Amino acid sequence: GKVRAPTHIISTISDDRGEEPCYAGVPMSSIVEQGFGVGDVISLLWFKRSLPRYCTQFIEICIMLCADHGPCVSGAHNTIVTARAGKDLVSSLVSGLLTIGPRFGGAIDDAARYFKDAYDRGLSPYEFVESMKKKGIRVPGIGHRIKRGDNRDKRVELLQLFARTQFPSVKYMEYAVQVETYTLSKANNLVLNVDGAIGSLFLDLLAGSGMFSKPEIDEIVEIGYLNGLFVLARTIGLIGHTFDQKRLKQPLYRHPWEDVLYTK
Ligand code: ACO
Ligand code: LMR
Repeated sequence: GKVRAPTHIISTISDDRGEEPCYAGVPMSSIVEQGFGVGDVISLLWFKRSLPRYCTQFIEICIMLCADHGPCVSGAHNTIVTARAGKDLVSSLVSGLLTIGPRFGGAIDDAARYFKDAYDRGLSPYEFVESMKKKGIRVPGIGHRIKRGDNRDKRVELLQLFARTQFPSVKYMEYAVQVETYTLSKANNLVLNVDGAIGSLFLDLLAGSGMFSKPEIDEIVEIGYLNGLFVLARTIGLIGHTFDQKRLKQPLYRHPWEDVLYTK
């Protein structure tokens, strides 16, 4: 019989051996012929299945809304400084990407984890927020440097509007909104931020679409797929900032002494 040499790599998402590459079994020609978009490609390569149109549209809206947020945010600032130090595109890009984490853009997975756990355990927003406070953990997905209760994040509103009209259920998002109502009663900057909106809404997408089993949802949340949306989205803006600095022929950046408190 045939002797199969043991392989050193297992891969399940794509295959380039045939006449044309396939993403999760779907050939390139069919992706083009069916007019698939980037949301469909993400569905195939991340979730290994085709998702309904409203889900792929939601993914695409997340990517468009998070593509950039001006030159002053952590990621863009790093990218701009790196580009002005004469570094290449990839260096400038990754320098910005490296700021994505628990405070900036990378709170989506933890927001999904904590909101899911609290909702599934039936905790009231009060019980949830106060238990986080006791543990000394900031609620992921809550709080923003410049957004306030009276100056909401338009991106959050747009995502909520889309989901309220297109999703079969928005129970996790409604829970996040109740959490926000409670945190806003404590301080005006404790709004539901874009990470929290995406985290809670993606839980609704996973649970409501009927495309994922419960263990699959748990695995997605545990592994942490969702920060990938912000990383992917912001890559678009960071590349733009790199080109912008090169186009403007900006010199080496040096921070002004006057803006530093020198102290002992
Ligand atoms: N949960 C509970 N309390 C909070 C939270 C929160 N998420 N955020 C702020 N506070 C309270 C705390 O009491 C904090 O005091 P502490 O420093 O003793 O913990 C107090 O507000 C003051 O907060 P600031 O320092 O003024 O908040 P800042 O503007 O520096 O932080 C930030 C903004 C980093 C977004 C913060 O709210 C946070 O850590 N949120 C959770 C992480 C998160 O969701 N990040 C994603 C933001 S959206 C994006 O990046 C695209
Ligand atoms: C962003 O999307 O970069 C922001 O929400 C963060 C910020 O500080 O504005």
